[in-house]
Amino acid sequence: MTRTDDPPADGGPPAITVEVCLDQSAWSTHLAEETLAGLRDDPPWIPPVWFYDETGSALFDEITRLEEYYPTAAERQILTEHAAEIAEVTGMETLAELGAGTSEKTALLLDAGEAAGTLVRFAPFDCSEEVLRQAAAQIAGARPSLTVHAVVGDFNEHLGALPMDGVCVLAFLGSTIGNMDPPQRKGFLAEVAATLDADDWFLLGTDLAKSEDELLPAYDDSAGVTARFNLNALSVINSELLADFDLDAFTHRALWDHHESRIEMQLVARTDQTVRVSALEGAEVSLAEGDHIRTEISTKFTPSQVHRELSDAGMLVEHTWFDDRERFMVTLARRA
Ligand code: SAH
Ligand code: AVI
Repeated sequence: MTRTDDPPADGGPPAITVEVCLDQSAWSTHLAEETLAGLRDDPPWIPPVWFYDETGSALFDEITRLEEYYPTAAERQILTEHAAEIAEVTGMETLAELGAGTSEKTALLLDAGEAAGTLVRFAPFDCSEEVLRQAAAQIAGARPSLTVHAVVGDFNEHLGALPMDGVCVLAFLGSTIGNMDPPQRKGFLAEVAATLDADDWFLLGTDLAKSEDELLPAYDDSAGVTARFNLNALSVINSELLADFDLDAFTHRALWDHHESRIEMQLVARTDQTVRVSALEGAEVSLAEGDHIRTEISTKFTPSQVHRELSDAGMLVEHTWFDDRERFMVTLARRA
């Protein structure tokens, strides 16, 4: 189901089209089924999409401004230095952004595309409707010559809804791809390749493997913002799936899994407990003190791994850029 909000008539606020691909009831059923499967697994896990209600999105925004959370600053440095080159190489007419959130760093690409005189359309895409609407309105207000066409959707399902008119750069920033496991990444990248026309581009931000000393504080900051972000997922499940998670009964933990090259975020039970999730067929999850629920993986890549995964998906890497400390990488690819 797709619902489109028409832009207002002349003289009203800035023209924004918001296309809603997420049928709330189907999306809720999908999330409920995935969560039930996750909670019944051993060890249990929950899908990371629960992080991004309005509170969680605001907490993520706070994370991106923490000294310890280097990926945002590193990616911003790359975009500051190379956005003009990206606009010039691609000649982008549409910039589409998956998992756009507030599109804060994306402003650098919008500036460059507008300065190059090619960019006419911005299409932010996110499953978090309120955050997307607010960001789209803010961007449209600040850039009256740009057409803003926001899409509320699941990037694992609705890539076909992207308005990729003219030469399109499809951006996926922030290393959100690292939150997918290898089979999910494979399926997702194949879909991206199938979505690109011959003159379109894929712009991918990926965080790189580095020392545990730098990685762990990024996911376990001293101000406790990441801990609140992690625990908030349980509040969202409490309200959306009528669960009775007691947030005080869990502790945030971030671990570095060297073998899988990924950070794993967990919530560790402080006591023996049974949690009931009324909307999931009344499912009960029993945890002993010290047991954990996995809430997120955040993969840290090597450049050659990213190139290989893009190439396996049928894309050809044209450029790669790094920040000055080589903590993060932005890759520009096209259909092979
Ligand atoms: N791109 C921004 C935000 C990253 S946070 C940055 O670089 O800082 C991850 C974003 O992806 C959130 O806004 C979240 O709502 C969105 N997201 C997570 N899972 C999604 C899904 N399955 N489909 C669409 N958006 C999703
Ligand atoms: C959105 N994603 C790429 C973030 C990450 O770093 O994996 C989410 C996050 N989790 C904890 N801090 C930030």
